[in-house]
Amino acid sequence: MSVKILGTGSFLPENVVTNDFLSTIMDTSDEWISSRTGIRSRHLVKTEGTTKMSVLAAKSALLDAGIQASELDLIIVGTITGDEITPSTACEVQAAIGADSAVAYDINAACSGFMFAMHSAYAYLQSGIYRNALVIGAETLSRIMDWNDRSTCVLFGDGAGAAVMGMGQEGILGFEQGSDGARGSVLACKSRANHNPLVQNETGLDYVHMDGQEVYKFAVTTVPASIERVLEKAQIRAEDVKYFLLHQANIRIIQSVAKRLHVSMEKFPISLDHCGNISAASIPILLDEVNKKGLLNKGDKIVMSGFGGGLTWGTCVMEW
Ligand code: COA
Repeated sequence: MSVKILGTGSFLPENVVTNDFLSTIMDTSDEWISSRTGIRSRHLVKTEGTTKMSVLAAKSALLDAGIQASELDLIIVGTITGDEITPSTACEVQAAIGADSAVAYDINAACSGFMFAMHSAYAYLQSGIYRNALVIGAETLSRIMDWNDRSTCVLFGDGAGAAVMGMGQEGILGFEQGSDGARGSVLACKSRANHNPLVQNETGLDYVHMDGQEVYKFAVTTVPASIERVLEKAQIRAEDVKYFLLHQANIRIIQSVAKRLHVSMEKFPISLDHCGNISAASIPILLDEVNKKGLLNKGDKIVMSGFGGGLTWGTCVMEW
């Protein structure tokens, strides 16, 4: 027996913001954004929040899995943009869907959040502690962007994706995670007011700050190496993988990974063109798109790989 994904779901806010619209509110252009990143539009919330999007993605995943919320033992949400500091988004999802028997908590691993949540659920399920888990990646990144910094705000979007995990004959064949806290400052957000009256509040720390070129270098070296290690350990050749579902940060990063692995870009489904980078939500949203299009058949091997703030990365190979 192995740990498998039983069903997927996702939610994107109704409000679509194109590159052309952004060029009316800041000094940018569709040509600059799309040629450097592959992003053409993104969904940005007007009324939704991280909890609401998570709940809608979760309900869709439960339906797809044919599992009742009452059967869940565990809910983990990967997010850096929960609506509140406490309760966690996972606890709010638990209450909203009526998963009364589940233990629920959030994980902060930025764009690797869904992979880290999946790996934690995998450990609980594989060891027999729990039977069914709901893992979610959800972000309202528009809340923490500096909308005066055109080099970051044009890259990101909002949304949520979810997967229900349980036991099956086929499933996860290999996994690895990594962190490099020493390089964390290249992608950081110090967005929290200090209410201690004895401490002077720092200013100018309210938004995502990114050294784009350093993050790019990190991604194009770490991700293919991580995928190669996972495939080697699982004794699977890259050419035998049907799809590589990568964190959707930048088309150039994905093209570079495909080249390093000697694999055609056709094996790399893309959602960043219409979603932008949704951090922890991007892999489960992409997985749901591929699943709901009917592109996955029993026995297909897929790789998922996330990377980002922390710095962190996580890769998994599974048989569908
Ligand atoms: N529109 C127009 N011009 C812009 C712009 C925008 N939205 N953002 C930046 N520019 C300008 C810069 O001001 C700079 O102008 P200058 O040369 O006159 O100073 C020029 O474009 C080049 O900027 P630079 O930062 O060198 O561009 P780049 O080629 O490194 O591309 C990224 C920037 C962000 C697209 C690229 O570094 C990248 O994709 N990095 C990875 C980021 C990522 O994926 N992060 C998330 C990981 S989880």
